Amino acid sequence: MRKRIMIFFVVALTGLFFLTVGVLTAADLPTKPKKEELIEHNNAYKTKKGKMKDKKGPVKLTHEKHNKEYKVACTECHHEYKKEGKKNINTWKEGDPTKKCEECHFLDAKKAKKKKVKSLNLAYHKNCKDCHKKIKKENKGKKKEDQKKTGPIKKCKKCHQKKKKK
Ligand code: HEC
Ligand code: HEC
Ligand code: HEC
Ligand code: HEC
Repeated sequence: MRKRIMIFFVVALTGLFFLTVGVLTAADLPTKPKKEELIEHNNAYKTKKGKMKDKKGPVKLTHEKHNKEYKVACTECHHEYKKEGKKNINTWKEGDPTKKCEECHFLDAKKAKKKKVKSLNLAYHKNCKDCHKKIKKENKGKKKEDQKKTGPIKKCKKCHQKKKKK
């Protein structure tokens, strides 16, 4: 009989534990952006031999500037998609809890492929560079004074900082 009561308590306590953790993590997600973002994923590059290596230094994103000065909407970068037929509808909006890109775009390219999402590095490069490229394209044929500034596209160093010597 005592054993049964013990088991009951263990089960109930475990349940309670997971319940609190679940509630905490949802409430803990940030909703307000930082002024700047230092994006760094260590050992995110896979060599031909299959070893994970750190190839490039961290990337600084001028988060606030992109939004306020360059007029880039939050939803250009943040999304949570709901499938409607073949369309992806973005249900994330400003002020919502914000997940990290890596929570959905897996670093492991194989896992990403299986889950049908872009792998993490691809997602970053596509998001950042595609927009900068788009601006460059729109500048074509325009007079110099009418051209808009673009962000970096090809020059790695304009985004990736120098690696720290270890
Ligand atoms: C518009 C900005 C931008 C440009 C330009 C850019 N990258 Fe990146 N790249 C990122 C971001 C953001 C990440 C994710 C952060 C990180 O892990 O460093 C990343 C991650 C990476 C990674 C995996 C992480 C690591 O450090 O090993 C590699 C490799 C990489 N980039 C290579 C390149 C190369 C090569 C070029 C130039 C041909 C380049 N990138 C140009 C933004 C950029
Ligand atoms: C140019 C792309 C871009 C724009 C525009 C942008 N963000 Fe972000 N945001 C990012 C990236 C990249 C991260 C880092 C994500 C990661 O580490 O996985 C981030 C992180 C965040 C975070 C997590 C907390 C933090 O700052 O580290 C919040 C909250 C956030 N953004 C909210 C917003 C809101 C609200 C807006 C609009 C006012 C916005 N973002 C505009 C790219 C952007
Ligand atoms: C809640 C999950 C989730 C988060 C968080 C998330 N993504 Fe995505 N993202 C997806 C899904 C699902 C798709 C559609 C499949 C695909 O193209 O990878 C997608 C598509 C994309 C695409 C393709 C173009 C588009 O917008 O449809 C890019 C680029 C991208 N994500 C970049 C990012 C970046 C950068 C971050 C972090 C600032 C981020 N994602 C955060 C789930 C997410
Ligand atoms: C939807 C458009 C858009 C997206 C997405 C975007 N950018 Fe930009 N970015 C711009 C514009 C516009 C400028 C040029 C503004 C200027 O210099 O007047 C810029 C400039 C920059 C610059 C140079 C000036 C500065 O403020 O540092 C860097 C570095 C940069 N972007 C990095 C990134 C990174 C990293 C990402 C992805 C996490 C990203 N951008 C995503 C539009 C975008």
